[in-house]
Amino acid sequence: METIQEQEQITPMPRIGDEAPKFKAVTTQGDINFPDDYAGEWVILFSHPADFTPVCTSEFITFAHLEEKFSKANCKLVGLSIDGLYSHIAWLRTIKDKIEFNGMKNVSVQFPLIEDISMEVAKKYGMIQPNESKTQAVRAVFFIDPKGTIRAIIYYPLSLGRNFDEIYRALIAMQTADKFNVATPADWNPGDDVIVSPAGSCGAAEARMTSTEGLDCKDWFFCTKTLDKDTVLDKILKK
Ligand code: BEZ
Repeated sequence: METIQEQEQITPMPRIGDEAPKFKAVTTQGDINFPDDYAGEWVILFSHPADFTPVCTSEFITFAHLEEKFSKANCKLVGLSIDGLYSHIAWLRTIKDKIEFNGMKNVSVQFPLIEDISMEVAKKYGMIQPNESKTQAVRAVFFIDPKGTIRAIIYYPLSLGRNFDEIYRALIAMQTADKFNVATPADWNPGDDVIVSPAGSCGAAEARMTSTEGLDCKDWFFCTKTLDKDTVLDKILKK
């Protein structure tokens, strides 16, 4: 059997801008063909180390609670761990029947959870990071756009639960960048000013500084404009 290092040479870790690696998998919601089944939608593919572990349980309750919010932003959720289908089913039933977290209880996880005992998908997505764990996936989050391109990746270690406000913020910021042809500054949230792409010539730089088109230019390379929250959310969220 090949070592993880050999496997990594065969399957390099996917990067931002790459096509999402394709796979077929068994999940708690039936078989999926990824990412083709999600064409036209954003999808967040995320891994967790193991079923029946506390940090993962808190994350699943939180993600399930937010599933409808993500769905309104045209984004589906897909989870994965190196566990079998029956473990997944038992864990999700336990979560619904017994676990309360941060005031959320009786939470039903409706999104698919991939069984990946073979680690085939986890290896394809660089979710096994051997110096952290050789047998459990790290907490990876892949944001994949409606064309099947990886747009952002977050990796957290086993002990650190993710920030779901940030995951949602990142999704909305990337959708805003696409729809309005802008960039978003540090800590941006809908309603905050957005960044206009930098001037690409000396003439454009000069024009930026003398423009009366509603730009706020601190210097030729740093111009912002207002983009109100309703305009952003009207364009992004399903009615
Ligand atoms: C947890 O989800 O609680 C956990 C999983 C693996 C290692 C450490 C914590």
